[in-house]
Amino acid sequence: MDGPAGVGKSTVGHLVGKALGYHFINTGEMYRALTWKALEASVDLNDEKKVLALAKRLRWEFRLTEEGTTLRTYIDGQGVSAQIRDERVSRSSSLVAANPGVRQLLCRLQRRLGNDGGIVMEGRDIATNVFPDANFKIYLDASIEERARRRYRQLKAAGQAANRRKIREAILTRDLNDIKRKINPLSQAPDALVIDSTQLTLRQVSRKILRHIKQHAR
Ligand code: DC
Repeated sequence: MDGPAGVGKSTVGHLVGKALGYHFINTGEMYRALTWKALEASVDLNDEKKVLALAKRLRWEFRLTEEGTTLRTYIDGQGVSAQIRDERVSRSSSLVAANPGVRQLLCRLQRRLGNDGGIVMEGRDIATNVFPDANFKIYLDASIEERARRRYRQLKAAGQAANRRKIREAILTRDLNDIKRKINPLSQAPDALVIDSTQLTLRQVSRKILRHIKQHAR
C-alpha cells in the first residue's frame, strides 16, 4: 500500500492486517529511525556516504508488538516508536529517503520481511519497487485539505499545539520531496486499486480493501 503523507495508510494497514491475520509493517519507520539516529550522532544528512555507513553499522530488527499484529523497527536493540514522531525527524526524513544506498539497503530488509507473504506493508514505493508482484496493490489518496484537517485534529486530541496552515505546508513539502526524488519516487502502480479517502472514514476504507481482496482472491 502506498500513498502520500498523512493519508491514513498506517491506520488502514493495521486494520486490514488484523482482519486478515497478517503482520503489518510501516516502512516509513525505517527511514525515520535512521534519520533519528543520524541526527543524534550529528551526521550531516546531505553526506550520502556517511548516512549509508551509519545505516550499515546499525543492527536492524523487527519485533512483533504485544498485540501480535505489527512488526516494529528496532535499531541496536532499541525501539524507536516515540523518537521518530518528532517534528525534526519528520522534516528531515525525506532527505534520508532520497539516498540511493540507503533505499537499496532498506528495500532489501523489506523484501526479506515480506518474501514469505502474509504481510500488509505500507510506504511510498511498495507496489512499484519493493513488491512489484504483490497479490494486492492499494494506492490511498485524499485531498491536502482533508489530510491537514486530520493531522490537526490528531495533534489537538493529543493536547499539542497545532497550526493548520503550517501543517498543510509541511505535508505539501513532504509530498513534493517524495514525488520529485529521482529514485523510487511516490507514484501509483498502474495495477493498483486507487482509493480516495477524502469523504470516507479510515474504517470504511479498510472495509473497501477487504471487500476487494475477498472478491479477487484466487
Ligand atoms: O510514511 P512516513 O511519513 O513515516 O515516511 C517517512 C519518510 O520516508 C518520508 O519522507 C517518506 C519516506 N518513505 C519512502 O521514501 N519510502 C517508503 N517506502 C516509506 C517512506
